[in-house]
Amino acid sequence: MEKTIRHGIIGLGKTVGIAASHIEGLRRNDSLVLTAVYDILPQNARDMLDRMGVSGVTVCQSAEELFSMVDSVSICVPNDQHTALAVEALRHGLHVLVEKPLADSADAALALEQEAAARPDQVCMVCFNYREYSVYRFLHDYLCSGALGRIYFYRQQLGGNRIAQFSVKREWRMDKTQSGPGALADFGCHMLDLAGWLTGELCGEVHPLAAACNTVIPERQSLSGDGLQPVTNDDCAVFMARSDSGTLYTFTASRVGIWDHSIEIVGEKGMLRADLSAGNGVQVWLREAGGAYLPENRKVLDISNEQGHTGILNTFAACIRGECTDPRTVAYGRRMQATLDWLDQNAL
Ligand SMILES: NC(=O)c1ccc[n+]([C@@H]2O[C@H](COP(=O)([O-])OP(=O)(O)OC[C@H]3O[C@@H](n4cnc5c(N)ncnc54)[C@H](O)[C@@H]3O)[C@@H](O)[C@H]2O)c1
Repeated sequence: MEKTIRHGIIGLGKTVGIAASHIEGLRRNDSLVLTAVYDILPQNARDMLDRMGVSGVTVCQSAEELFSMVDSVSICVPNDQHTALAVEALRHGLHVLVEKPLADSADAALALEQEAAARPDQVCMVCFNYREYSVYRFLHDYLCSGALGRIYFYRQQLGGNRIAQFSVKREWRMDKTQSGPGALADFGCHMLDLAGWLTGELCGEVHPLAAACNTVIPERQSLSGDGLQPVTNDDCAVFMARSDSGTLYTFTASRVGIWDHSIEIVGEKGMLRADLSAGNGVQVWLREAGGAYLPENRKVLDISNEQGHTGILNTFAACIRGECTDPRTVAYGRRMQATLDWLDQNAL
């Protein structure tokens, strides 16, 4: 099939370089064709295209130039730059997929929410891509079928080890003015999104209760290597929430080391457990409501997995083609941001 939607990427990457996952997802998408890229540091753009083996794509000199060449755009820059670029992209008539978290604060996302609301024919989605992993899709369908009955509690942890080493230099994500909260928002937004999506139908809305944050590496070498600079947001966070129906939620987010990416959901008729860092198995242990957990009822199901950005780019394209709508709107992203703001401001 001929690809007909010209797509651009802004922010090609230096630290994580999440743009690589967008490029991979675009390769597998049957409508979106990567046409142009822009990075404020053009060498970052050229390096990423080389690394990914991409040719025939224009490296633009400005965001304006890119907006004039494409129909849709992925915004993959630091959090504080998301909303101004997304507003401009919408004003140029583009469809927008903006990386998570939507912004560095809920206030910073207000203008974008208003711009998107005024343009209902343009798709503007936040990249909560974890919903697209097959394991989470399985958990969603399993829970929505009611197989676990009433949900008692939900536990999840998520994070990374890349910057656990003290010698990693101070990146934008360690600066509150560029990132907003640290691990709390970086990983917490994915976990809150999953919690609401996986259990919302059964348990109602999920409301934050309490948080505690810690900055364990208070200073890092500056990027230019000319001295130490303070880290001004959290390296790790724990937080709690409760749903309308009384289900309890606990979350751990860490960017300074985490062993597994596990999730555990316990209800009146059984429990589910998955650890995405150890393969695609989902452990299922059912019982009669109120009965015993019998060893013979404990099962491991192997679920095939799919890269999350492939799934969200497929959904984004389907929304542009008018085949569906998606709840991961900027209004939703801003409500999530307000929850993160509350947790950050009230953290112990
Ligand atoms: N969905 C996910 O799972 C996931 C994973 C990692 C990162 N992210 C998000 O993706 C975004 C980017 O993170 P990253 O780790 O890839 O960043 P990065 O540091 O690797 O890359 C950011 C790039 O943006 C460029 N840039 C900065 N300001 C710019 C501007 N105004 N215009 C154009 N280019 C600009 C930088 O030069 C850099 O190349 C963040 O919002 C982050 O939270 C999402």
